[in-house]
Amino acid sequence: MNSSNIRVLFVTSEVYPLVKTGGLADVSYALPNALRQLGVDVRLLLPGYPAVLEQLSLIEVHEEIRLESLQEPIRVLAGTMPGGITPVYVIECPSLYERDGGPYQDNAGKDWPDNALRFGILSKVAALFGNHSLLFKPHIIHCNDWQTGLVPAFLAFNSNPHARTVMSVHNMAYQGIFNPEVKELLDLPPESFSMFGLEYHGQVSFLKAGLYYADWITTVSPSYAKDIQTPTYGSGLDGLLRERQNQLTGILNGIDTAAWDPETDPYLSRNYHIKNLQVKVRNTQALRTKLRLPPAKQAPLLGMISRLTEQKGIDLLLPIIPTIIKTGAQLAVLGSGDGDLEKRLQQLAEQNPTHISVTIGYDEELAHQIEAGANIFLMPSKFEPCGLNQMYSMCYGTIPIVRHTGGLADTVVDATYDNIQNKIATGFVFEEENSEELLSCVQRALRTFRDKTTWRMLQINGMSRDFSWHHSAKQYVSRYHQLSD
Ligand code: ADP
Ligand code: GLC
Repeated sequence: MNSSNIRVLFVTSEVYPLVKTGGLADVSYALPNALRQLGVDVRLLLPGYPAVLEQLSLIEVHEEIRLESLQEPIRVLAGTMPGGITPVYVIECPSLYERDGGPYQDNAGKDWPDNALRFGILSKVAALFGNHSLLFKPHIIHCNDWQTGLVPAFLAFNSNPHARTVMSVHNMAYQGIFNPEVKELLDLPPESFSMFGLEYHGQVSFLKAGLYYADWITTVSPSYAKDIQTPTYGSGLDGLLRERQNQLTGILNGIDTAAWDPETDPYLSRNYHIKNLQVKVRNTQALRTKLRLPPAKQAPLLGMISRLTEQKGIDLLLPIIPTIIKTGAQLAVLGSGDGDLEKRLQQLAEQNPTHISVTIGYDEELAHQIEAGANIFLMPSKFEPCGLNQMYSMCYGTIPIVRHTGGLADTVVDATYDNIQNKIATGFVFEEENSEELLSCVQRALRTFRDKTTWRMLQINGMSRDFSWHHSAKQYVSRYHQLSD
């Protein structure tokens, strides 16, 4: 079979620009686009959140379905991504998806109490595409994270599915673990509630279901594929992953090089590229003005854009911020999440308004402006399945400081003496998860910042790297072929 004959249903709970809480949305937009360019007939399946129904173009009713678990009928709508090429199926079910708030949580940050049903139904409908029930008949159903973990299970319980499944793990820390009552709610066969199935310490785990029943497992970087087979990073499922290691591949995420290109980025005050990098400073000046940070000609501006969660290592950074800004450096943070982390960051900004700016919230425009305006990007994650911002940073000539973990280890080359000599260094990497190591790594970066020639070389090395999806999308295509031939 050649690529143009292969049909894939890509099931996801978020996709840029319709609904986004993190990198999964970026991947769900850019990977299907790259697959289509390789000739794959890939189509998305998404829940019909209000933002999806409002923004999709050319919506029409594709099928009507009745499920035992639900009283109301479900309509599967068909549309296309705004400005894009990828066809999208949307599950219209107002009682489950049409409400104010985020895709997983209400406006107060509390998980929706019916998430098991909301994502159980997403998985059920996806499985219908794989068992001859609906018009589009994919060879592969590509599932993403726990929200779609029951798809491989529902297909495995079916006697004659035509689709094979790929389960992609974007983050092991979120598993979709629910009370055993959801078995009845979702008509899961009683025998599946076992160690050899979807049971996890007496509960139902959606992610475990996906990892147990999928034909193939992928995760978003080669290093994370190894990390999650260890107790430290496996979040309790490392044993299962070790058992399935022969069906587990790490495929590094790419980035959308059209949306993240400093030469064409519409959010920047001045566009720039590798040959006129001196223009980048205009973006630094504009960012300082926007964030009300005073001009500081020689001092570097450090940026951070992040979900504020334990994963991202904010607690490693907080205690050393006073020492960092004493050197004259400034810090611009954009993020939202954990209330306590938000408060601690805001307090630091109130105490040091000339050196620290903290913006709490989600702001796509400011995210691009920080990538372009900052000199250094901070990403001291405790674990990082892949991470996209370090790649955006390198494309923007903004030097990342990262911990040696997961996809950060796979994408950033530390500025050691040898790597600088060999012209491959692109950033600064530290090993251990503690504030002292992070601080000495930041100090190393600040020293190098003063050496303009070396700094320019790091920028050029990063900007010359190819982070596009092309190479990784090809790896997915060959995996789809191996599964469906
Ligand atoms: P994760 O998915 O773990 O959050 P990634 O680095 O893979 O981490 O992707 C995060 C994505 O979300 C990036 O596109 C980043 O720019 C974006 N992002 C995170 N927080 C914000 C925010 N507060 N405002 C705008 N964009 C954000
Ligand atoms: C997750 C991970 C992040 C990854 C993203 C997209 O949210 O935390 O590291 O880049 O998914 O795969």
